[in-house]
Amino acid sequence: MAAGGDVSAHGMWSSRWLFILAAAGSAVGLGNIWKFPYIAGENGGGAFVLVYLLCIALVGVPIMMAEVMLGRSARQSPINAMRKHVVDSNAPAFWLLIGWLGALAGFMILSYYSVVAGWALHYTVLTASGAFEGVSPEVAASTFNDFLANPWLVLFWHTAFMCLTIWIVARGVSGGIEFFIRWFMPALLVLLLVLLGYAVTSGGFSQGVAFMFSFEFDKLSFDGFLIALGQAFFTLSLGMGAIMAYGAYVPRESGIASTVITIALLDTLVALASGLAIFPIVFANGLEPGQGPGLTFVTVPLAFGQMPMGGLFGVLFFLLVSIAAITSAVSLTEPALTWLVEDYNAKRWRVAISIGVICWLLGLGSVFSFNLLADFHLVGTMTIFDLVDYVSQNIMLPLGGMLIALFGTWVLSKETIRSELGISSELAQGAWTIVCGIVAPVGVAMVLVWTLYGSLAGG
Ligand code: TRP
Repeated sequence: MAAGGDVSAHGMWSSRWLFILAAAGSAVGLGNIWKFPYIAGENGGGAFVLVYLLCIALVGVPIMMAEVMLGRSARQSPINAMRKHVVDSNAPAFWLLIGWLGALAGFMILSYYSVVAGWALHYTVLTASGAFEGVSPEVAASTFNDFLANPWLVLFWHTAFMCLTIWIVARGVSGGIEFFIRWFMPALLVLLLVLLGYAVTSGGFSQGVAFMFSFEFDKLSFDGFLIALGQAFFTLSLGMGAIMAYGAYVPRESGIASTVITIALLDTLVALASGLAIFPIVFANGLEPGQGPGLTFVTVPLAFGQMPMGGLFGVLFFLLVSIAAITSAVSLTEPALTWLVEDYNAKRWRVAISIGVICWLLGLGSVFSFNLLADFHLVGTMTIFDLVDYVSQNIMLPLGGMLIALFGTWVLSKETIRSELGISSELAQGAWTIVCGIVAPVGVAMVLVWTLYGSLAGG
């Protein structure tokens, strides 16, 4: 594989905008749709959103910049990029952990992300068949529980989603990921706008806006602040090298700071718009908002079921969730995949299929966590699904993100930092060191410690 000049052997984005869309595709996922709107409403509305924006700016953006910088300056898989940086900077091998931890986290996250994304595929079909028209809350809830209790149906959709993901990934950076991003991201934005328009006319819009945006500073606790921080970090897909891997394909002439700010803005806009598309229809039907799977797979179908033309818009909603999930899933394999291609000179499609099979197998643990293995607990009361989710999301990602921020400020050579980020003044250099080298890692460390402490204290 010949890679002449300043390009990656795996491929390149055809423009800065395609990188923006691909990274936004990775960032915009289940977290934007079923988590952000509710945590905003619960933790002080507008006050929370303000704090969240600060966290995006002071923690999310710098760490994302560091990932893009580390990837682009090496033009290799995160694992080999870190090898190169460690050699070039004469740093201890400890830092290689960033690459390894990230690739491993990718496997773990994809294994259960695919299961949940499979639920969304199933619900797209179910809604299209009119299953929720005029249903009662009991039926909406039992539909979801019965579905989860059926291991073979859940397995079927997990398999379908994994095949779709691997098929896209196997076709390569330009012919696969970029090709689909070109269709999926505009489709996602259009769907969101259509649903937003529908929500505006639903009769519950002002209540939805009030839930998400009314300024209630007294509801914003220290916990709320840490939740904002954790969400800012998670929603941007940081800490595991997905953005680093994508960063390796970014053209040299793109400014990293402005590009990353655009991605963060897109992700934030989608999170806000999701809330404004969901909560009004929930309130319009006198339902209580919640978060997570319950909101997406019980409350939302129930609400659509009561609305005129709700069947149609319900399908569009689950299509939106499915697309958001697939554009995130394709980025999860990239760190491990590119490393295997580089070190074993393997064909991309073969590696992609192997990773798909491994993640599919790992995913069986999550598929069966809701039925056959529901009473099987590895730690405390956690099912396999809970445990894989917890360890990857709450431990591995923050740890990786912290190390990336520290490496990109204190260890990487000043020349590389300056040339990648286009820093020309001492002031800008100092600001970079303070924000990415101190503020961001301390913030992420706080979330990490707080989550671990919370789970130990809370059992
Ligand atoms: N950002 C995704 C979401 O909001 C979830 C996610 C976290 C992710 N880390 C990731 C996706 C790494 C892809 C790669 O749902």
